[in-house]
Amino acid sequence: MNALSTSMRTDMCGQLTASDAGRTVTVCGWVDRRREHGEHLAFIDLRDHTGIVQCVVNRSHDLRGEYVARMTGEVRPRPDDTANLDLATGEIEIEVTEIEILSESEPSPFPLDERTEVDETLRLRHRYVDLRKERLQRNLRTRAKVNSAIRRGMEQKGFVEIETPMLVASTPEGARDFVVPSRNQPGSFYALPQSPQLFKQLCMVGGIDRYYQIARCLRDEDLRADRQFEFMQLDAEASFVDQDDVFDFISHAVAEATEAVTGERPTEFPHITWLDAMERYGSDKPDTRFAMELVELTPLFENTEARVFQAPCVKGIRMEAGVEALSRNQIDALVDTCKQWGAKGLAWMKVVDGDSGPALDAGVAKFLSADESTEVIAALEAQPGDMVFLVADERRMVRHVLGLLRLELGRPPVNEGGLNFLWVVDFPLFEAINQDGKPIPAHHPFTMTHPDDIEGLDAEGEALLDVRSQAYDLVLNGWELGSGSVRIHRPEVQSRIFELLGIGAEEAQVKFGFLLDAFRFGAPPHAGFAFGIDRLTALLVGETNIREVIAFPKTQSGGDPLTGAPSPIDAGHLEELGIRVLPPST
Ligand code: AMO
Ligand code: AMP
Repeated sequence: MNALSTSMRTDMCGQLTASDAGRTVTVCGWVDRRREHGEHLAFIDLRDHTGIVQCVVNRSHDLRGEYVARMTGEVRPRPDDTANLDLATGEIEIEVTEIEILSESEPSPFPLDERTEVDETLRLRHRYVDLRKERLQRNLRTRAKVNSAIRRGMEQKGFVEIETPMLVASTPEGARDFVVPSRNQPGSFYALPQSPQLFKQLCMVGGIDRYYQIARCLRDEDLRADRQFEFMQLDAEASFVDQDDVFDFISHAVAEATEAVTGERPTEFPHITWLDAMERYGSDKPDTRFAMELVELTPLFENTEARVFQAPCVKGIRMEAGVEALSRNQIDALVDTCKQWGAKGLAWMKVVDGDSGPALDAGVAKFLSADESTEVIAALEAQPGDMVFLVADERRMVRHVLGLLRLELGRPPVNEGGLNFLWVVDFPLFEAINQDGKPIPAHHPFTMTHPDDIEGLDAEGEALLDVRSQAYDLVLNGWELGSGSVRIHRPEVQSRIFELLGIGAEEAQVKFGFLLDAFRFGAPPHAGFAFGIDRLTALLVGETNIREVIAFPKTQSGGDPLTGAPSPIDAGHLEELGIRVLPPST
């Protein structure tokens, strides 16, 4: 008996095979396609979420595309020359004896095959039709598998699922809050959680020991391929742990999810320090499916005569067989692109067969001394036919530009090159210094300093940027999958960090007083992590936009063409909330 059988159907369309020949079955689904066959008969492809089955019906039935029908008949082998081996059910058809039209349909707003490009807004406006596509069915069902594998993985490690509230006070995760006006206290607002960060820390003070949640988070930020206003995290926190413990249980959950989808369990979760990642890949989320590492050339140009390379930092990358791969126009375009990314220029050279081994030619080759040429070739391990690209500038700029160029030149498509997980550790505590000379936290203000760098907190200005934290990220194929940190659990340390960040005692009390208070009542050392389920699922199914793994996503501009949200609310409702809306500014 099929688990999906109901009082209305015996079988699923996509599951019938030659071994069912001779059985009388009833299937339900949508009319995918209709072809007339001779004077009296028509072939109807009937579709449900498992696939398509060919039904032979009398032509007189008015069955059009996307009609919902129930069909009963005998399964029989298709005549030999008409079998379709591309289709799971291609060897059989149903000779229909009974048809019931359950629902009619207007003509579909767009074709449901994968070949036709359909405008995003139109797709989302009729998402219920779009969802019938095989691709979205597969993606959403995969997503459900991911969720259930994550739950299993976390529970195996002793984590307890706890739900935290949606109407909260602001949580600082670096984005804008979505706010909800309070009717009972006009002029006051709830924030929707950017993450359950503060509540999960309170759970640790509350002795939960190991918390997890598949949590909905809301952030008002610019939308991109890997960002939506609402998204889901696997959110976790544990007590009496260090970061290696966190890596262990998060890697376990991620491995469970990956295995559930791909059938293969990832075993490699290598670590790299943030600094190493920046120096070797020019990124804090390196895509390690390909090498093309950034090579340090600064010492080699220390006393150079070449004006181009007289800079605090010079690095280079090598593109194997790049001479063949890139036209002159493409190279010029790369130079322009690097300038848009902030570089002063992009120095390029071809590697050719010289009299005594590989030599540099074209581009800036003429500016290099013989020794410099030899050393550049050696450092980059360049072979004839390769292209080499060098950038000279401040170190941050060199990493930034070469990191992007590396991706531009070498990044494999999303579904190639396997799944490369990577823990990036020892993130800096602060990412920049603001106009008031105060540091801006790289993760969030509850992150613990690296144990070796505590004294660095006494430094001032730019020197603070060298202070490392106990924050870490999990990266997959160049996407930031998740972030976490060991937290501060001592109120005096937390107050000190707030002070450094320029959050005064009063402001700290107003915003996070409840957390500081809680820490005065016995807070265990704790650490945690959160990773994006939308992002993990997208990468596992080979999608480049997380919208394809979300049932009802928003458009790029944040609208929902299906429901019309966001939309104005009526005057009475505003009145009740004590809100007056200003006319749009011109
Ligand atoms: P963070 O802000 O890095 O950390 O978020 C964790 C992960 O959530 C996913 N993510 C998003 N996915 C889709 N759309 C978005 N707008 C979006 N924003 C974030 C990413 C990201 O890596 N409270 C901390 C975690 C912790 O410290 O425990 C936090 O939320 O995959
Ligand atoms: P210029 O001497 O400015 O005409 O530059 C000569 C070549 O070096 C051009 O291809 C520039 O794109 C490149 N170039 C200029 N400045 C830099 C730099 N700071 N780093 C790398 N390449 C550069």
